[in-house]
Amino acid sequence: MRYFLLLLCCAAMASCKQNKPASDVAQHSTDAHSFSRPDEAFVTHLDLSLNVNFDKKVIKGKATWEIENPSGADTIILDTKGLEISRVSLSDSNSNAEFELGPEDKFLGRALKVKIDKDTRQLTVWYTTSPEAVALQWLSPQQTAGKKQPFLFTQSQAILARSWIPCQDSPGIRFSYNAHVTVPKDLMALMSAENPVAKNDSGVYSFTQPKKIPSYLMALAVGDLQFKAIDERTGVYAEPGSLDAAAWEFADMGKMVSAAEKLYGPYQWGRYDVIVLPPSFPFGGMENPMLTFVTPTVIAGDRSLVSLIAHELAHSWSGNLVTNATWDDFWLNEGFTVYFERRIVEDVYGKEEGKMQEVLGYEALKETLEDIGHSHPDTRLHLDLKGRDPDEGMTDIAYEKGYFFLRTIEEAVGRTKMDAFLKKYFTEHAFQSLTTEQFVAYLNTNLLKGDETLAAKVNLKKWIYEPGLPAGMPAIGSANFHYIDSVLAGWKKDVHPEGLKTQIRSANEQLYFIKRLPQELSVSDMKRIDAEFGFTQSGNAELNAAWFIHAIRHHYTAANPQIEAFLIRVGRRKFQIPLYTEMAKTPEGKSWAKKVYKQARPNYHSVSFTTIDNMLGD
Ligand code: BES
Ligand code: ZN
Repeated sequence: MRYFLLLLCCAAMASCKQNKPASDVAQHSTDAHSFSRPDEAFVTHLDLSLNVNFDKKVIKGKATWEIENPSGADTIILDTKGLEISRVSLSDSNSNAEFELGPEDKFLGRALKVKIDKDTRQLTVWYTTSPEAVALQWLSPQQTAGKKQPFLFTQSQAILARSWIPCQDSPGIRFSYNAHVTVPKDLMALMSAENPVAKNDSGVYSFTQPKKIPSYLMALAVGDLQFKAIDERTGVYAEPGSLDAAAWEFADMGKMVSAAEKLYGPYQWGRYDVIVLPPSFPFGGMENPMLTFVTPTVIAGDRSLVSLIAHELAHSWSGNLVTNATWDDFWLNEGFTVYFERRIVEDVYGKEEGKMQEVLGYEALKETLEDIGHSHPDTRLHLDLKGRDPDEGMTDIAYEKGYFFLRTIEEAVGRTKMDAFLKKYFTEHAFQSLTTEQFVAYLNTNLLKGDETLAAKVNLKKWIYEPGLPAGMPAIGSANFHYIDSVLAGWKKDVHPEGLKTQIRSANEQLYFIKRLPQELSVSDMKRIDAEFGFTQSGNAELNAAWFIHAIRHHYTAANPQIEAFLIRVGRRKFQIPLYTEMAKTPEGKSWAKKVYKQARPNYHSVSFTTIDNMLGD
């Protein structure tokens, strides 16, 4: 009888759990990069007040968290890094709560442990950020386009949010937020939320993000900004002098959103806007909800680099809606996003454009595999980043190996089934975070369905859990690029670049051409190629960066002033790392690299200089 009752009880609990909408069931995975213990107590909503002080380079903040405590825990743990905590209170803001900061971990910062009781539903933390806060980059007027006003932006991914907000800094924990941000008059504040379209006289801006997001998508930008609409749903923020160029470059944003919706279901976030940041922004783009942050180096003047917008937009589904549960599952964010990005590009710009980008992606993947080593564990899709800086796992493996895994599935099942599967996957996991294991289980149940022939084609164990590239990659190729291969194959003895510019025209083709140039080039070869194409002076940062690698390797010193200026101005890590690496290959090159870096470093964000300090350090 007791046994029967127990069974009944279990059945009732199970069905109760099943009946609850999935989004309400808090399932939290163990995350090696957060001190928080969400299975005990977790946050659900944030009310944030910030005061931005450019003179002191600090933000004073008050963060009120709504919490749930299903386990009746007596402590809730938040992550912090470099934060000075002045006070913590529970629901009643007059009385202080007991709190303690744990020991400092090099990567993770310090745990903030606050005493609560089982009925506590709210806590407030008063704090100040450090002037060295790793998420924040404070720019002097000189570092902006307008040169008159200072600028501040945040970069929270992967685990930097804790340096400007005390939070449960794990991608498996989601919360909605409101914020009030006070900034100097003459500046406008923007967040990953519903945003203002104009400055006001008070310098106080209010924000709402009604959807639940993980902490790495918390974002703030403050500067002399203006807004220009592209259509009813999309628009651009930039400094006044760059606004028109940005709006022209990104004119297809609305079309991209529609193409994305046609593929994988409605855009869930209301507006989709982009902010163009100063050139020291360390990434190409960052998918902050409702407001993608982008580097100005994508404004090439010919719309040739706008696939980056397609990428960040795609994250509105893969990443922001369905999120990697831990940084070991990073490929779930980026691999899916690259796949989705190329589908958007194909829809808006045609099949050949998609094919060219796919080949360029494969080239990047081969390079990364060579760099890391084909049998290195970091070339597995499912990573093991415990005890390390998660940044170490953020390589092209997640992006391009992830992409080619999804292409392999697509080849095996066909596009119709693939698209139906992905649409269902995004819909059924909306506003949830997933581990690789959960994805594998979902794939097995919903697509492979015990079909052994299909499972053999998809080969998921090899792709996900083993290093290197499995055999049986999908066939790829672009007609435009085949032409370039044939031109280069004709250069058996000598280069013949003259007249080629009329044949090799688009930025994609020129990029492929540069990447495929012979390994052995003389200074005079370099000079002739440059005379034909003008790569040193090009306004396209992708072409500059790829070309400068050859210039460094082949001692084409005519490009040195441009290389130096580029490294001093552009903070984008993807360009910096290969360039400094190439420079550091010879002793003279290394001292040149150090000289340039000394001048450039003050312009770099912490995520860049942390990597380059390690690289160029003796
Ligand atoms: N979310 C990433 C940027 C990122 C990744 C920041 C990991 C911090 C840690 C963003 O979506 C991205 O992938 N950006 C790329 C551009 C893209 C077109 C491949 C970049 O910045 O180069
Ligand atoms: Zn991305």
